[in-house]
Amino acid sequence: GWKMEDVMEEEIKVIRGMVGPQDHVICALSGGVDSTVAATLVHKAIGERLHCIFVDNGLLRYKEQERVMETFEKDLHLPVTCVDASVRFLSELKGVTDPEKKRKIIGKEFIAVFDAFAHDLEKKLGKKPTYLVQGTLYPDVIESCPPPGSGKTHSHTIKSHHNVGGLPKDMKLKLIEPLKLLFKDEVRELGKILDVPVSFLKRHPFPGPGLAVRIPGDVTQGNALDILRQVDEIFIQAIKDAGIYDEIWQAFAVFLPVKTTGVQGDQRTHSNAVALRAVTSHDGMTADWYYFEHKFLDDVSRKICNSVRGVNRVCLDITSKPPSTIEWE
Ligand code: XMP
Repeated sequence: GWKMEDVMEEEIKVIRGMVGPQDHVICALSGGVDSTVAATLVHKAIGERLHCIFVDNGLLRYKEQERVMETFEKDLHLPVTCVDASVRFLSELKGVTDPEKKRKIIGKEFIAVFDAFAHDLEKKLGKKPTYLVQGTLYPDVIESCPPPGSGKTHSHTIKSHHNVGGLPKDMKLKLIEPLKLLFKDEVRELGKILDVPVSFLKRHPFPGPGLAVRIPGDVTQGNALDILRQVDEIFIQAIKDAGIYDEIWQAFAVFLPVKTTGVQGDQRTHSNAVALRAVTSHDGMTADWYYFEHKFLDDVSRKICNSVRGVNRVCLDITSKPPSTIEWE
């Protein structure tokens, strides 16, 4: 077996050999493990010639921007520009209900924001950035099963609907993919050596389109985003407090675009329902719904209805994948 320290040293050598002393490199950080570890590694190799961007698309979880920016800056000292683009994303998404249309709009807006960042950077530097870092992993790289004994292949396609995805073609950026021979657990190991906080390395996966795929229909309806953020935060915090976060592949709340009757205090209410979803999985391709203890569910349900205005009903999603997908859209 190879030692992860050796892998790191080797990768740093490769990156330094590839990126010339005048070259500049950009990286889009999603807040996930892969892009964070990839950027941290490249930063170690070439320092301030790396320029990262983190985009707030208005579809992030409760305090997500603050939390990840704190890790990027305080823990990892990464040079990151945080762009709050929530207004443009949400105005483009207004009234759009088709899930694939929603994904397309989010992808298109992301490219526009990234493009603007790259052009600003070009003005500042007086030259075009040359390279783009991507956190592509080995499982993303495998086009088909490589023939036995051929070792790991370099040819690849990036899964279309997953991750940050397509980037402007006219920019002609060359790719740096320092994780492309690693599996997820190896990336976590590498991250540890690079001093990425362990709690960060254990974060559940989060989809690129964010909360948009957890609000069936129009993302901008009513207070959906705000309600969803509060419910999700209570649910995740309870999971952490119960010590079961690491047993779960993904856990999250879903906003249900339906109002039902409730009685709260001495009043009848007509408010939204929410669903809770938690699954175990190895790779996200198949998943089983997670068995919570009844007491846990009871506590969470009460807490949500007592503290989130606009919610009077909590449901639990008890479907596995297949037949359901993990996300609701
Ligand atoms: P599904 O919902 O298809 O999800 O069972 C499998 C895994 O992929 C994530 N997912 C996405 N990730 N962009 C992403 O970057 C997407 O459009 C997207 N859709 C689903 C999902 O969170 C789960 O981990």
